[in-house]
Amino acid sequence: MKLLVVLSLVVAVCHGSTVKQQRRFPDDFVFGAATASYQIEGAWDEDGKGENIWDYMTHTNPTVIRDSSNGDIAADSYHNYKRDVEMMRELGLDAYRFSLSWARILPTGMANEINPAGIAYYNNLINEMLKYNIEPMITLYHWDLPQKLQELGGFVNPLFTDWFEDYARVVFENFGDRVKMFITFNEPYQICYQGYGATIKAPILNSTAIGTYLCAKHLVVAHAKAFHLYDKEFKPTQKGVCGITISVNWFDAATDTEEDRAAAEMKRQGEWGLYAHPIFSSEGGFPKEFSEKVAAKSAQQGYARSRMPEFTEEENAFVRGASDFFGVNHYTAKMVSATQYKEDAPVPSFMDDMDVGQFALPEWPVGASSWLMLVPNSIYNTLTHLKEKYNNPVFYITENGWSSYPDSSLIDDDRITYYRSSMESLLNCLDDGINLKGYMAWSLMDNYEWMQGYQERFGLYHVNFEDPARTRTPRKSAFVYKHIIKNRFVDY
Ligand code: NOJ
Repeated sequence: MKLLVVLSLVVAVCHGSTVKQQRRFPDDFVFGAATASYQIEGAWDEDGKGENIWDYMTHTNPTVIRDSSNGDIAADSYHNYKRDVEMMRELGLDAYRFSLSWARILPTGMANEINPAGIAYYNNLINEMLKYNIEPMITLYHWDLPQKLQELGGFVNPLFTDWFEDYARVVFENFGDRVKMFITFNEPYQICYQGYGATIKAPILNSTAIGTYLCAKHLVVAHAKAFHLYDKEFKPTQKGVCGITISVNWFDAATDTEEDRAAAEMKRQGEWGLYAHPIFSSEGGFPKEFSEKVAAKSAQQGYARSRMPEFTEEENAFVRGASDFFGVNHYTAKMVSATQYKEDAPVPSFMDDMDVGQFALPEWPVGASSWLMLVPNSIYNTLTHLKEKYNNPVFYITENGWSSYPDSSLIDDDRITYYRSSMESLLNCLDDGINLKGYMAWSLMDNYEWMQGYQERFGLYHVNFEDPARTRTPRKSAFVYKHIIKNRFVDY
């Protein structure tokens, strides 16, 4: 024993440091990487695939995209899936999170017509991954709604919940024998506010706050329908889990005043609480302070009732607790203040309802995406908050990553700094007993970054979009991530 102490002191002195206990990730911690169908697949109209809202928007209105591009070919993963799996093996991933293109499986969105080529494509991908023990994690919906369903109103139509349930059945029936992790929706705030309440994502409807809240309610109920379907009819034999992924960035009060603290809470409730609270809180329903604020605003605006829909008792009971895990997409943080949000919206708007100001601290490094700052320990702050609020459910970080510019070097030290910082934050979570089971880096490879087209790159692998073969090349961060996965600790 004495000898050991002396030896470690010698080692410490040789390294010019004090002895520091190395923190490790448990062996069963799931390390993976994530992508989404529209962002990587391409083959937009091949083999019977139907049109989706991104196909439609980028073809009819290309200038809404920063470089007027689209996902017609993207990283061409429809034809390159074997290379994708090879990359997963190179990294030593435990899991890979990808999404299904609803319109590739059901061209009209409705379950009466199944496209066999769509099923075959995903079967090939899944089987290729399983050959190498890489666990598939399927997202059913990552923003590419079949255009035919949008023509019927999309998420604001109450019938959406049935369309989604029918689609989920097709997915569980076809893939559930081999896939054990399902995520219903990716990032409800981006779907509902950015797509229906604004012009930041397809279908760029800008349909005021009403679109946002109707979408929120239907999305949450649709999630619960898919969850219960899985739970009752499939889980007993398939033995997997079904959850939802919500984008939860960290919002801290700009000062310790009561006003700023209330503003930060309002921001949290409006941005992710609308979707998390009905499912994960013990009382259910939309978050209280936010609902009260919208009700008060509605009254001021001369409406006899609140503009926000409510959950009936029965819906509330159906939705509450309807998830096996809480998937968190986490990227960054903002400071929030009670400064009034000024908008000249002639109609009720969601941002106006929330009515808070936000800003970033100047010392936070910024990525190629203007909203993306590296904020030390923000994963820990986020999960600590969620743990307290929702009684420590099972968590997965289902996305986290850093963007660079298209012409930046393969030696991506800024991305490495970001990932290392995230790893420290994850270890802090594990030390504190947060029920965190895994982490998916965004993204396995460069892809179509929505309204930013190909101008922001998130890949561990660089993709050459000029090259018809869409050659993939690992960045330095890929080697660092591989090393972390293999050794289960971060070193410098
Ligand atoms: C979250 C979204 O799920 C993903 O599609 C997107 O590319 C990343 N954030 C980066 O913006």
